[in-house]
Amino acid sequence: MVLQLGDVVPNFTADTTEGRIDFHDWAGDDWVVLFSHPKDFTPVCTTELGEVARLKDDFAQRGVKVIALSVDGVEDHRRWTGDIAETQGHVVNYPLIADPDRIVATLYGMIHPNASTTLTVRSVFVIDPGKKLRLTITYPASTGRNFEEILRVIDSLQLTDGFSVATPVNWVWGQDVIVVPSLSDEEAVQKFPKGFKRLKPYLRITPQPDL
Ligand code: BEZ
Repeated sequence: MVLQLGDVVPNFTADTTEGRIDFHDWAGDDWVVLFSHPKDFTPVCTTELGEVARLKDDFAQRGVKVIALSVDGVEDHRRWTGDIAETQGHVVNYPLIADPDRIVATLYGMIHPNASTTLTVRSVFVIDPGKKLRLTITYPASTGRNFEEILRVIDSLQLTDGFSVATPVNWVWGQDVIVVPSLSDEEAVQKFPKGFKRLKPYLRITPQPDL
């Protein structure tokens, strides 16, 4: 199954390090970052899961729950979290999905057979409160992800939903944003009391509206 942006993500039930979950029920009305890693007890994954534990509050501030998955069982996950705490200095504070039969991995297209027939690639799925897929990225097994970038994209998505703005190249929190092309100039005047610069009819810049 190929999941595309805007699709409602498939539901599943699975065992996790925090008990059995129905994924959609677990997500509730929050945003979700579901991310897969190739295997427990591997070096890059160990650093990534520690980093996500460190960033848990940053995700929570944005109304985002995080959940990880690999094709290992709950007991391996639990044993491995000890190593993560010991080596990364952060206790894993979010559930790890056990997917030894690769049911969820297959449902979400996390196995790329020409990379590995057995291991999951490093997938990231950002899912909104309506259970719609808003971002997906895929990294190879040998490259650790930058989870600050995932937070940056979530900030952008939430600004778009709340304020009809898009974010330009390399945007970071606090910088100017772009008025979405679907708004007329008249609507933009009403919507952005701080004003906007009209560089081109399609390129209008305004200060980040929620600051
Ligand atoms: C790692 O997490 O270090 C890793 C996992 C699978 C293949 C290569 C590296």
